[in-house]
Amino acid sequence: MTQLHDKLLLPNGVEIKNRFFKAAMSEGMADEYNRPTKKLVRLYETWAESEAGIVVTGNVMVDKRALGEPRNVVVENEKDLDLLKLWAKAGTKNGTQLWMQINHPGKQVFKGIVKEAVAPSQVEFEPKLQRYFPVARELQEKEIIDIIQRFAHTATIAKKAGFTGVQLHGAHGYLISQFLSPRHNKRTDKWGGSLENRMRFLLEIYRKVREQVGESFPIGVKLNSADFMKAGFTEEEALQVIKALDHLGIDLIEISGGSYESPQMTGVNVKKSTKKREAYFLEFATEARKVSTAPLVVTGGFRSLSGMKEAIMEGATSMVGLARPMAVYPYLPKEFLHGKRDSIELEPRKTGIKLVDQTAMLELTWYSNQLERIGKGEATKPGLSPKVALMQSLWKNGLDVFQMRRV
Ligand SMILES: Cc1cc2nc3c(=O)[nH]c(=O)nc-3n(C[C@H](O)[C@H](O)[C@H](O)COP(=O)(O)O)c2cc1C
Repeated sequence: MTQLHDKLLLPNGVEIKNRFFKAAMSEGMADEYNRPTKKLVRLYETWAESEAGIVVTGNVMVDKRALGEPRNVVVENEKDLDLLKLWAKAGTKNGTQLWMQINHPGKQVFKGIVKEAVAPSQVEFEPKLQRYFPVARELQEKEIIDIIQRFAHTATIAKKAGFTGVQLHGAHGYLISQFLSPRHNKRTDKWGGSLENRMRFLLEIYRKVREQVGESFPIGVKLNSADFMKAGFTEEEALQVIKALDHLGIDLIEISGGSYESPQMTGVNVKKSTKKREAYFLEFATEARKVSTAPLVVTGGFRSLSGMKEAIMEGATSMVGLARPMAVYPYLPKEFLHGKRDSIELEPRKTGIKLVDQTAMLELTWYSNQLERIGKGEATKPGLSPKVALMQSLWKNGLDVFQMRRV
């Protein structure tokens, strides 16, 4: 029976040293020119000492005109190659696989950060989020082609800099997931309509990236099991997409779910029956196993060693994805592997302000604050007050937006 410390062989022959997968967390640590910083290097050096088999970076943007958050790293040319090399070197210590997560946010960009938001179609956000996100313009076909090429270009630079893989961000309501969702994609050309058309954007990105990086360089994808929105992307459709990606030779599929509009990925709105299995998307992974042979990662909700062991031993997932746990306990895989700990507890972060607590934003803010501490070489602070984290973030983001260099 497979164990957490067992190696994993990807379909392309790359060996992963164990079954722990540090899932992407947007760091917000780039400088005002969206370049990697020393803080980012220190954060990944820390995680490279955690003994996790794969560490995925926070989302790196493929286009400076399309930032998800003010301090995203952007990789659209080679001018920051030396900085990227430092980042890759630190994060690949101890045989750690360091994969760059590459992303285009589409319409999921906070107001004031970009001049113009773009999307497959002009579909507004839920009313409760309209104050945060602008109405996006529909992409023209030539812009879609340009974005596909940008993904491939960013992946090529990541490889050149020494990252050992890339992960396409196809989940959480960003551009790829907007294309997949019939709620957000109302196009009538070859990029919308049938599922075959809606998945074309993702599959074309995969093909172009593969063409550029070659067969032996790992390409993963993070995919929603569903949108959990009315008229959205369904589990049946997600299974079809997984099948298609498997057929094309994807190396690893990470399963998550939701978006800012319905943040299932952080445990909000997750059904009690699903929560029983600790990780939110394990049931779906079991279904995915039946249609695909690609290795799987399930992320969201894992907190106990016994829950992780069980998921690996029963074969529901090939790796266990950990995000928030590794923001508070950065060496967690090592502690689990060496018997120093057998579970952690993380409470939902709430301010008591309904508008703030309804979305995933506070969760993200509180955990970003912990990442910032690791990046500065400080100890994490599990007891940090959510209100204090929120105030600090509002202050920092205000300054960030003010200092941003817009193109
Ligand atoms: C601060 C923060 C930032 C995140 N940024 C990203 C991101 O850039 N890309 C991504 O795919 N998921 C992102 N996530 C979601 C996590 O990867 C993960 O799917 C989610 O937190 C559930 O896993 P967990 O229960 O282990 O935290 C972020 C989560 C947090 C808390």
